[in-house]
Amino acid sequence: MANYEYLAEIEKYGRDNKIPILLDESLDYIENILKEKRPKRILEIGTAIGFSALCFSKFLAEDGRIDTIEIESLRVEQAIDNIAKVGVQDKIRVIEGDALDILPYLQEVYDVVFIDAAKGKYNEFFEHALRLTKPGSIIIADNVLYKGYVLSDYNKHKQRTAVNKLREFIDLVLNNPKLDAKLIEIGDGLIVANVK
Ligand SMILES: C[S@@+](CC[C@H](N)C(=O)[O-])C[C@H]1O[C@@H](n2cnc3c(N)ncnc32)[C@H](O)[C@@H]1O
Repeated sequence: MANYEYLAEIEKYGRDNKIPILLDESLDYIENILKEKRPKRILEIGTAIGFSALCFSKFLAEDGRIDTIEIESLRVEQAIDNIAKVGVQDKIRVIEGDALDILPYLQEVYDVVFIDAAKGKYNEFFEHALRLTKPGSIIIADNVLYKGYVLSDYNKHKQRTAVNKLREFIDLVLNNPKLDAKLIEIGDGLIVANVK
C-alpha cells in the first residue's frame, strides 16, 4: 500500500538542499494533465531524488508504470530509497546512466515523456521522445525558459550556449507539424506537446 505522506518530507529535503525538483506551479499543471490522461506508461529523463516521479505515480492507470533515468549515482540511491519509503517500487523503475546512452535501448511506447535533465541536450532527448511515443502521447519539457534568460536579451557568456540551444529547441518543437505544442510561461517554463 503506497504511503504518500512521505512526499512532503522528500519535497522539503529537495528544497532545503537546493536539488532542482519541480516547482509547485509546474507540478500542479502537469498533475492536471495526468489526472485527465491517467497514463499507463511514463518515461522521465532526470529523476533527481524521485520527487516528480513519485508525484506522477499517483495518477497512473491501475497497472501503470514509470521508467525514470538519472545520471548521478548518489541521486539514484536517494531516489530508490524514497520510492521504497513510499512503497511504489512496483510502479517506478530507476535506470542509472546518461539518458543519451540509455534512450537508444528503450523500445516501448510511452503515453507521457517528461524531459527534465541537461538543458543543452533537449534536442537530442526530444528526438528520442518522438521515437518512443505515438499519436495521443504527450511530451513535456521543463526549464525551457531557464530562469527567464531564454525570453530576455540576456547574453552572459556562461549561459549563452544553453540559452541558444533552448531557443532552438523551443522553435523546433513549436514548428513541428507532427505536434500540437505550446509554451507555458509558468515556473521555469514548460513545453507541452501533444503528438498528432
Ligand atoms: C531538474 S533535476 C530533475 C528533477 C526531478 N525531475 C524532479 O522534479 O523531482 C535534473 C536531473 O537530471 C539529471 N541529469 C542531468 N543530465 C542527465 C543525463 N544526461 N542523463 C540522465 N540524467 C541527467 C541530473 O543529475 C539531475 O538530477
